[in-house]
Amino acid sequence: MAATSTTTSFTKSHPNVELENEESENLSHECRELLLYLPKEKGWDFPYFYLYQDIWYPPTRIQAIISFQKHFQAKDNDIIIASLPKSGTTWLKALIFAIVNRNRFSPSQHNHPLLISNAHDLVPFFEFNHYGNNQQIPDISDLPEPRIFGTHIPFHSLPDSITKSKCKIIYICRNPFDHFVSFWLFINKVIPPSLPKLSREEALERYSRGANEFGPFWTHMLSYWRESKVMPNNVLFLKYEDLKGDINFYLKIVAEFLGFPFNSEEESNGVIESIIELCSFEKMKELEANKKGEFMQKYENKNFFRKGEVGDWVNHFSPGMQEKLSKVIEDKLGGSGLSF
Ligand code: A3P
Repeated sequence: MAATSTTTSFTKSHPNVELENEESENLSHECRELLLYLPKEKGWDFPYFYLYQDIWYPPTRIQAIISFQKHFQAKDNDIIIASLPKSGTTWLKALIFAIVNRNRFSPSQHNHPLLISNAHDLVPFFEFNHYGNNQQIPDISDLPEPRIFGTHIPFHSLPDSITKSKCKIIYICRNPFDHFVSFWLFINKVIPPSLPKLSREEALERYSRGANEFGPFWTHMLSYWRESKVMPNNVLFLKYEDLKGDINFYLKIVAEFLGFPFNSEEESNGVIESIIELCSFEKMKELEANKKGEFMQKYENKNFFRKGEVGDWVNHFSPGMQEKLSKVIEDKLGGSGLSF
């Protein structure tokens, strides 16, 4: 499925009365006009979110996505790492960077780029980085190949240039219980002082309605889940929990899928183990590059590394909250074949 022109709920008869000043700053005329007619919802770390192509975003993100949809030209050997925020994106970016570049940078070398830079600097996002710079169209035609990109937007909003190409897309998905906890704690850390922090009950209420940035989680997950069934050579669907359970096995699957399989010499020389070690939570969390610095001048790098565990949700959910989210998962994902 390709990007559609606006959203399913385009209601011209009831425009939003006006945009907040801070929302319309640096937005193109086209984007401001569009926002006037999109469904609007109270935000979380932004004053408002708008529903664009069935997903909630703050205004700046919508502008970046429109620019990306209009201008990005895919190459057949591009690699795209897709996810909902807080699903293990940083880890997957590091693993893929290390796999694909292992002939340029040995995973055991002391000055490997992943020991010096945050994974998001090495593998930037379309909608935050390349196309997130105030309406400027980036020249990314001559990035080293294969180009590796990150994105948090759903499959159905990717431009035709990608969906009709031979690009490899790898999606990482996470159990909604752990995903919610990681997301809620992260957003409350980065929320501007002008906006209230959300209690876990309020946050879960919004998450369960799908009203969070890049939500609803079920729409997002299912967009890639379904494509991974239709186009298994182009879309690989991974789960964070599976990677945590057997990273060695999944590293080989990923390398094979990308067309960079490990040969027997590499296997016997411990290359796979070196990559796993280089990208391990314990190693990455302790690096200076990840303890200091910021992503997008808003998100401190250290906030991308919290616990890195499966099942931490039990420390944050009451029985009522557990029941509520279980019901949403059953209602929205039941029958899809996607389960946790
Ligand atoms: P927790 O908040 O549960 O600890 P994202 O990279 O998509 O923002 O996801 C962040 C989540 O992945 C956080 O989960 C973070 O701790 C975890 N994470 C970060 N780096 C990791 C790594 N190298 N291995 C495993 N998990 C990692």
